[in-house]
Amino acid sequence: MKRSFIREILEHTNSDTISFAGGLPDENLFPMQELKEAFAKSLEDSNSLQYSTSSGILPLKKIIANFYTKEGFFTTADNILITSGSQQALDIISRFNSGKSIATQKPSYLGALNLFELNNIKVNKFSIQKGKTNLYELKRVAMISDLIYLIPDFQNPTGATIPIKQREEIAQICQEYGTILIEDAPYSKLYFKEPINSISSFIQESSFHLGSFSKVLAPALRVGWIRASKELLEPLIAYKEAMDLHTNSLSQQAIYHFLKKPECFDKHLEKLRANYKAKMQYFCKMLDKDLPTFNYIKPKGGMFFYGDFGGVDAKEILKQTLKKGVIFVPGIEFGGKADEVRFNFTHSTFEELAKGIEIIAKVLYNTKKR
Ligand SMILES: Cc1ncc(COP(=O)(O)O)c(C=O)c1O
Repeated sequence: MKRSFIREILEHTNSDTISFAGGLPDENLFPMQELKEAFAKSLEDSNSLQYSTSSGILPLKKIIANFYTKEGFFTTADNILITSGSQQALDIISRFNSGKSIATQKPSYLGALNLFELNNIKVNKFSIQKGKTNLYELKRVAMISDLIYLIPDFQNPTGATIPIKQREEIAQICQEYGTILIEDAPYSKLYFKEPINSISSFIQESSFHLGSFSKVLAPALRVGWIRASKELLEPLIAYKEAMDLHTNSLSQQAIYHFLKKPECFDKHLEKLRANYKAKMQYFCKMLDKDLPTFNYIKPKGGMFFYGDFGGVDAKEILKQTLKKGVIFVPGIEFGGKADEVRFNFTHSTFEELAKGIEIIAKVLYNTKKR
């Protein structure tokens, strides 16, 4: 199994490194005061430090269920399993489906691909090219797969979004072939214009919809969840229990107190969207100015730009930019091509975004001349 390249290169960086590598939120936007208050409130009750239930604390499950119901996707607390981040949700589902087969986008999220490999799940790939998922290929591999793994909103790594019409078609394909959908949606609330219905909302009984507070609140909380029918969810609870008994219940309590004031979360999400959209637009401007040969698709939300260096090996460029204090992830790490690249634009400041692109451009255009 491959170690996460991002985690490895992060070990070679210091506080001065400009990192376009990890899928990191902007820590200046963490709602520090509100979270301090939420943790203080949780600690008023000594019970919040006690062992807790494996499927998660009921008040939090109810609030999450309500998010779905408000969007017309009827959900109760029984449909929710709280996990230690959506990474654990993927881990639980993969263990439960060990030895089966799965259709995945190519490229896709390395953390999921690693789990599929670890659990002897046969991966059948269909491509995303120029931001578009190839439905013809998807159908072909769905036919021979037990499951489909998709990140439909602002995908990691490509930033691609599956349009509503294709979502309905994918739901139909799942129904036609009896394929279970794993819809990984940690970025879904980070849209720049408007949200799109999840694919799971069209196939509520045969899908796992995965959510997380990592990208919209703080990753250190390590709280995510699975939304599924009771029948699909029930057997997973035993796995969850065997893995870690339960997700950190102090984090769960604090998130519950934070979410209890709905305007608080709504305001926070609006702030994130506005800030990330401004950074995305600025990044576009800088790319077009300094890296005009970088071919990319403008993301509609989320945290990533994906594109190519026009035939130049991205790993070679990275080796040189690393020495100059700038890092990013070559697309090949996610199953993409050698000249492809993923840039995260949410973590750096505006100045760092400009400086980082300038340094990459200098390296790229010098390399090309040779
Ligand atoms: C597509 C996708 N799924 C899952 C995860 C895991 O997130 P977490 O465990 O922090 O919720 C990530 C993290 O970057 C991701 O990009």
